[in-house]
Amino acid sequence: MAMFQRIGSVLRTSAPARITSVCGHHCWWSNVEMGPPDAILGVTEAFKRDANPKKMNLGAGAYRDDAGKPYVLPSVRKAEEKIVGQKLDKEYLGITGLPAFFKAAADLAFLPDSDVIKEKRNVTVQTISGTGSLRVGANFLAKYLDAKTVWLPTPSWGNHTPIFKHAGLDVKAYRYYDSGTCGFDSAGALEDLSKIPENNIVLFHACAHNPTGVDPSFEDWQKMAEICKQRNLLPYFDMAYQGFASGDTDRDAKAMRYFVSEGHNILLSQSFAKNMGLYGERVGAFTIVCADEEEAKRVESQVKIIIRPMYSNPPLHGARIASTIMGDADLRAQWLLEVKSMADRIISMRTQLANNLKKEGSTHNWQHITDQIGMFCFTGLKPEQVEKLTNDFSVYLTKDGRISVAGVSSANVEYLAHAMHQVTK
Ligand code: LMR
Repeated sequence: MAMFQRIGSVLRTSAPARITSVCGHHCWWSNVEMGPPDAILGVTEAFKRDANPKKMNLGAGAYRDDAGKPYVLPSVRKAEEKIVGQKLDKEYLGITGLPAFFKAAADLAFLPDSDVIKEKRNVTVQTISGTGSLRVGANFLAKYLDAKTVWLPTPSWGNHTPIFKHAGLDVKAYRYYDSGTCGFDSAGALEDLSKIPENNIVLFHACAHNPTGVDPSFEDWQKMAEICKQRNLLPYFDMAYQGFASGDTDRDAKAMRYFVSEGHNILLSQSFAKNMGLYGERVGAFTIVCADEEEAKRVESQVKIIIRPMYSNPPLHGARIASTIMGDADLRAQWLLEVKSMADRIISMRTQLANNLKKEGSTHNWQHITDQIGMFCFTGLKPEQVEKLTNDFSVYLTKDGRISVAGVSSANVEYLAHAMHQVTK
């Protein structure tokens, strides 16, 4: 029989039997199961536990210099010195972030003389890097778009599905990667896109597709923009690598800008983690392109209402670094050269990896290593080969066979080629 207890004027059932641990503490969470490690960040955790001096972390996408060390861009160092010298305060930012930063981010994406910027049709806010940007976008879509389904390419970045699902959206997939050619499945993607129900959301990787490193040709982008128009689909661009893919920020934004020029009022998530190396500073931006300035004002007011209970307002320091760089002609020019040098080092590592595989005597076709672009190479290694690579050679990568080429250097590329050859022969 339930026991009742009067607390003030409220009648409560007595608490269920108290579960205690061996040391006598109350176990509130005895029902919580152990979860799996994160598919990407869990690889770093495993890497850290390995004592092999030859170990390589090719899991999470984080740039390394040719000595295998994390790289702080010299332009970032200079911007930091400038900021410290100014002895600025540490007041809260507004909900939408640092104006100098989010304006510069929008200009970098769309160009200052684009119609979107000139007509003030963009709502752009600072966010907690790309992930935070996607989450703000997902919550906005879940609240304001009737169609609650977002279509992702197969495969897509491992965090896309949970981000959209946690916001309450349904996630579906369109064909993207052809494992036969290790390239873009143009026919499959176009066919699937043309069958998506009207008003649904379609997510595109603006450049340097993660995890495959396979980008559609410009002709394919044109066809996809046309299908989105015919089907009345809402394109959402995730642009985490502007400049990092080709070394040129304009070239990497070309597909996204094309959609906008075709009249698509897109959504855009930007990250400055890779192209400025500001990983831990969490610098990103979220944009909704609107029909006109008046719509943009209404939309912005609601984006603020979504952000405020999530994290109140974004962090200051990284946004100051990014805006200082983008707002100073000399620093900006230096930064763009540094972005190019990072992209070039990755491209050269691709060539060296492919050459070393050949030297090892591998007879497989590794052409895709150099065909793919950006931080990642989708090697085509099977899960058991990945496991062997990790267990026998301490080479850490995600289970899908993706390697972060940014983690390869002249010092370890031969070792990697040797290990890849051993597990694939
Ligand atoms: C990656 O895909 O490795 C990066 O985008 C890092 C991350 O947060 O997953």
